[in-house]
Amino acid sequence: MSPCQMPTAKELAEPERWDTAAEKYNDAVGRSSRFGADRLIAMADALQSLNAPSAHAIDLGAGTGSVTHLLADKYPSLPILATDISPGMLNQLMSIAKDPATTKITTQVADMAAPVGGAASEGTFSHVISTMAIQVLPDPAGEGTLAQWARLLQPNGVVAIGIWDFDENCGPHALHWSGRADLEGGLKKAGFNEVTSEVMHLGFDVGKEGFMQFFWESGNPMPKDRQSSFEGDLGKVKVEMERILDEVYDGGSKIPLSAALAVGCWSNSRIVPTHYIQSSKLLSSPSMLENNLLSTGLL
Ligand SMILES: C[S@@+](CC[C@H](N)C(=O)[O-])C[C@H]1O[C@@H](n2cnc3c(N)ncnc32)[C@H](O)[C@@H]1O
Repeated sequence: MSPCQMPTAKELAEPERWDTAAEKYNDAVGRSSRFGADRLIAMADALQSLNAPSAHAIDLGAGTGSVTHLLADKYPSLPILATDISPGMLNQLMSIAKDPATTKITTQVADMAAPVGGAASEGTFSHVISTMAIQVLPDPAGEGTLAQWARLLQPNGVVAIGIWDFDENCGPHALHWSGRADLEGGLKKAGFNEVTSEVMHLGFDVGKEGFMQFFWESGNPMPKDRQSSFEGDLGKVKVEMERILDEVYDGGSKIPLSAALAVGCWSNSRIVPTHYIQSSKLLSSPSMLENNLLSTGLL
C-alpha cells in the first residue's frame, strides 16, 4: 500500500480501530483538536447562545471529548450528549470528566452517518457540534448525513463542524473531505445558508518523542495505517524520521497542523456563518514527513 492508499471509510468506522486509540488520544491529537474545538464553540455561541435556557448540545464523533469537556467547562448548565461509534472513546471521555456525579454529560454509542435515534431524537438540540470526525465518512453531504444532523436541530438550531485541513487528499481523515473547500461545499449542498469560512493554525507540537510515540505506539488508526503502508527497514525509517523531526520541525516543536471550522444555522431566515479553522498540515504531517522520507528512498 502506498502512503496514499488508505483504508476505506467503512474500515475507518470500525469501532475497535478507535477503541485502541482512546487511552493515548489526548497525549497528541487531542491536544491540538482542543484548540479547534475552542474556536468552534465560540463561533457557535456567537450564532446562538449556548447559555440560553433551551440550549442543548450534541457532540458527534466526540472521541475523548475535546468539544464536550470544553462545553461543560464553559456552560455548566448545558446538557451535552456525547456520541461516538467507539465505546472505548466514550469510556475515556467519561473517565476524565471533572465531576461525573454532577456533570450534564451523557453518552450514546452512535454512527454519526445516521445519528438520529435514542437520546439523539429529532428537534432536540440547539447545537449540533462535531470536530475532526466527519472526514472519515464516505460522502457526508451526498449521502444525507448532514440532512440527518439538521433533523436533530431545534428550529433555527446551529450546526458547527471542524475538520482537519490537509493540503492533499491523502490520509484516513481526508478520504473525501480534505479541507475547507469540501466542507463549505458540503454545507451549501446540504442546504445551510450564508456559508463563510475562517482559517486557524493549530500546530501538532508534541515534540520528537511525543511524535514518535504517537506515530509508532499510540494505536491511533491514522499512523497505524501509515505504518502498514511502509515497506523496507522500519528501523531506518524511524532513524530518518527522528532526523527530519530534528532538522525540519525543530525537534518536533514546530509541526504544522491546520483545521477548518464551519458554523451554520438550519433556517432560511437566519444567516449561516461558516467558520473554518484551516489547519495547515498535520499528520498530513506524516504526509510531509513521508514526502521527506520518500525523497531519501527509505519508503
Ligand atoms: C480524530 S477523532 C476526533 C475526536 C474528537 N471529536 C476530537 O476532535 O478530538 C475521530 C472520532 O470519530 C469517531 N468515529 C469514527 N467513525 C465514526 C462514525 N461512523 N460514527 C461516529 N463516530 C465515529 C472515532 O471513534 C473517533 O473518536
